[in-house]
Amino acid sequence: VRSCVLTLMKAAGAIYMPLFCGPWMEKMPHIIRVGGLLIDGMFPIYLIYLKSLDCVTGLSREERAYQYVLTHATPGDPDSILDAFDIWCSKVEFISNIGPKKGKILDRLLMEQSPLTVLELGAHCGYSTVRIAQALPLGARLYSVEMDQRNAAIAEKIIRLAGFDDDTLIVSPSDEVIPQLRSNYGLEKLDFVFMDHWKKCYAPDLQMLEGSGLLGKGSMIVADNVLFPGAPKFLRHIRKSGLYEWRVHRATLEYSKGIRDGMAELIYQGIK
Ligand SMILES: C[S@@+](CC[C@H](N)C(=O)[O-])C[C@H]1O[C@@H](n2cnc3c(N)ncnc32)[C@H](O)[C@@H]1O
Repeated sequence: VRSCVLTLMKAAGAIYMPLFCGPWMEKMPHIIRVGGLLIDGMFPIYLIYLKSLDCVTGLSREERAYQYVLTHATPGDPDSILDAFDIWCSKVEFISNIGPKKGKILDRLLMEQSPLTVLELGAHCGYSTVRIAQALPLGARLYSVEMDQRNAAIAEKIIRLAGFDDDTLIVSPSDEVIPQLRSNYGLEKLDFVFMDHWKKCYAPDLQMLEGSGLLGKGSMIVADNVLFPGAPKFLRHIRKSGLYEWRVHRATLEYSKGIRDGMAELIYQGIK
């Protein structure tokens, strides 16, 4: 019975995934625009489907992805870990990793900037953490923040599997960590910040970083998903504050062909 239910659920997923990821996605009637946000009307149904899959398999979506990566990637080879995630997430179950296309933009920005202190907000399963760690120069330090204990446990295993140290994975909400970066982690300046946590946290966290004095002239902030699901308050703040030179790198949502998304690249100019 369990395997029949699982097969039926996989079939349901196979129907939803092309709908979710197809090039026609944005034109589908189940995509609605509310303010600056694009919302998938079918998403609640997909969530119910995922929750039932969790009950049947006894694993969370992230744990299922981890099982696949563990059995298909080569330990110590970050690229093979990223590839295994990309295969699973594009063919089996969606996970909101930055994905290969936007990931390459992030890699390029990191290589150009060559930052020595990096803060990542929202590690999830550690996909972007591995990407960032791989692109950093020798001696650089990466602080990754993830508030969900279960996700953080997977991120920790993925970071170790890739051959990196997991000692700066901070399991706490960003608004608690940012004020402690100086006192508890001895940070004086952030060269690079990658924001990929809940979109409603982008604006308050950026303002908290501005107030912390950790951003210096030339610090780079990269924020994912500013067009889908969208971060209108964040975009309004960077437009109005005049503190940044900025642009949006146009792309599509991770593991989808049709949903337009973008990554914002900000260069802090300091208080004028
Ligand atoms: C989109 S996923 C991150 C994907 C990841 N950056 C990647 O590309 O592999 C968002 C993650 O941010 C975490 N998160 C959301 N809000 C947060 C907050 N305020 N502080 C810390 N983590 C947060 C969630 O638990 C979730 O795991």
